[in-house]
Amino acid sequence: MQQRKTFMLINFVPFYLLLIHCALAQIVGKYQHEKNENLDAFYEAVGIPGLSRKILTSTKPQLEISVDKSQQWNITISSFLRLTSKFKLGEEYEEDIPGGIVAKSTTIIEDDKLKTTSISPDIGKILRTYECNNTLCIITMKHEQSGKEAKRYFKRIAS
Ligand SMILES: *[C@@H]1O[C@H](CO)[C@@H](O)[C@H](O)[C@H]1NC(C)=O
Ligand SMILES: *[C@@H]1O[C@H](CO)[C@@H](O)[C@H](O)[C@H]1NC(C)=O
Repeated sequence: MQQRKTFMLINFVPFYLLLIHCALAQIVGKYQHEKNENLDAFYEAVGIPGLSRKILTSTKPQLEISVDKSQQWNITISSFLRLTSKFKLGEEYEEDIPGGIVAKSTTIIEDDKLKTTSISPDIGKILRTYECNNTLCIITMKHEQSGKEAKRYFKRIAS
């Protein structure tokens, strides 16, 4: 019995690490913006004024997702302005969201996707999902209070 447990552990651990490694390889990388879906309506629902919305929805930013050995994640979206979110999985952090909103966020990985829950006193709860693979990355954003949902599509340009 003891022997069997040890045997299972030895086999299971590398397999588990391999699975995590594969999930990360699919998420981590550099991406170029391609198109938006419903972004203006989403930004309107979270209270971003018209002129700022026009600028935000017309930019074609780059998205960069990275993680280092200490499990520190950085997600940077940059066009004329540059916003970086820094976090460790499962730990709460402060994050700047477009429109001058500061939120308390927590990010986890579920089904090979990064999932961020953000709460701000001004706008309530926003859920974001980063769904990435070898060719693209899709960010889905949902504002809980209004039910408005938007998507941003990015094409992978580097691993
Ligand atoms: C994240 O950003 C910090 C500083 O902005 C930098 O020191 C760190 O190396 C970055 N980590 C990754 C994984 O890019
Ligand atoms: C990447 O994901 C998209 C959307 O989910 C899908 O259409 C595409 O086939 C996927 N590409 C690969 C290489 O898995």
